[in-house]
Amino acid sequence: MNKDNSNPQTFKGLSKTAAELPQSGIRRFFDIASQMKNVISLGVGEPDFPTPWTVREAAIYSIEKGQTTYTSNLGLIELRREISKHGMKRYQVEYNPETEILVTTGVAQGLDLVARALLDPGDEVLIPEPCFVSYKPCVSLAGGVPVPIETTCENNFQVSVESLEAKVTPRTKAVLIGHPSNPTGAALQRKTLEEIVDFACRHGLYIISDEIYDRLTYDGEHVMVASLPNAFDRTITLNGFSKTYAMTGWRIGYACAPANILHTMMKIHSYTMLSAPTPGQKAALEAMRRGEKYAIAMAAEYKRRRNLIVDGFNAMGLDCPMPGGAFYAFPSIRATGLSSEQFAEQLLYSQQVAVVPGNAFGLGGEGHVRCSYATDASLIKKALERIELFVDSLPGVSKKNDLRETSDQLV
Ligand SMILES: Cc1ncc(COP(=O)(O)O)c(C=O)c1O
Repeated sequence: MNKDNSNPQTFKGLSKTAAELPQSGIRRFFDIASQMKNVISLGVGEPDFPTPWTVREAAIYSIEKGQTTYTSNLGLIELRREISKHGMKRYQVEYNPETEILVTTGVAQGLDLVARALLDPGDEVLIPEPCFVSYKPCVSLAGGVPVPIETTCENNFQVSVESLEAKVTPRTKAVLIGHPSNPTGAALQRKTLEEIVDFACRHGLYIISDEIYDRLTYDGEHVMVASLPNAFDRTITLNGFSKTYAMTGWRIGYACAPANILHTMMKIHSYTMLSAPTPGQKAALEAMRRGEKYAIAMAAEYKRRRNLIVDGFNAMGLDCPMPGGAFYAFPSIRATGLSSEQFAEQLLYSQQVAVVPGNAFGLGGEGHVRCSYATDASLIKKALERIELFVDSLPGVSKKNDLRETSDQLV
């Protein structure tokens, strides 16, 4: 077989939009880490728990029974009914399972569908950053223009309406938010969300709300955007099973939206995906029906680890705000004088701990690193010890412990 495609004149170019997509900044570090021995990874954004057994068993049983065909394009009606019940019970938001809920192959596909359903070429989408790495590419691939909006640690990564107003144009079509946030862990406050809804109403915008971490909210209640006054008609909610039920590999998520929007998403889905995997949908159904106690137990464990890792960073002199949700700590590494990439790279080579540089997540991420605490507590402890050794080897970082000792000596 002749594999020589070195002559560029033989071929027309690939899609310019696709060819110009940057490679995820996360990938590079995983590639380096995978070549090294004895690495503790705080890099991966997925639960370290296996999917609860009852959920796995439901999928096995469905395969044994030969339930291996496509489902309706929208997904299994029993699953859509459970999703609808869940929205009603937790957030008092009523989605019609027949017309307003679509089962997707993960929130990742939901993002792609919603971008393609809403955007014409050149339409702009306001995206508060730092944010999940897929948001901008999904918008670009749909022909849209992502418009980053910087949020900062000083402001607890809340989105200010002034910053949205500064970037809105007649081409703006939507605001895309993820909360609790990957990578910052910030849970947006009700007031912030109400202001975003008000802003969207004033400018006639859609709100795409990725709430995949809704069940991993540790201090207080998650606020579902669609439940806020005036939000329902313009909001597309994306959610899924990957994080809450430790089901990343099953590839099941869902989109909830008013019927006209959902119908358009469903048409795209029906041509490009047909339906989400059937065993995965059976598993998701079991997760919703009998997975609650596991979801609660896993969330409680993440909360314990969150406190451990945040305390650890602050004690070694790296300011780390307390994340309200998800499973990421986003400490500031500014005190070290290193850039995010330098910090991550030097830490990996010197102490074999993998973290993700904050600049991979867009504006506001430089000066931070993302550390996932979906990692066993004993490994988090070891990783913290190694990070502390690394930080101690750098000049200029003053520890909270040292400060405490100094002030104790003063009295
Ligand atoms: C904010 C956010 N949205 C969506 C996804 C993708 O989720 P899924 O596995 O449902 O495609 C992730 C995964 O890390 C995420 O962090």
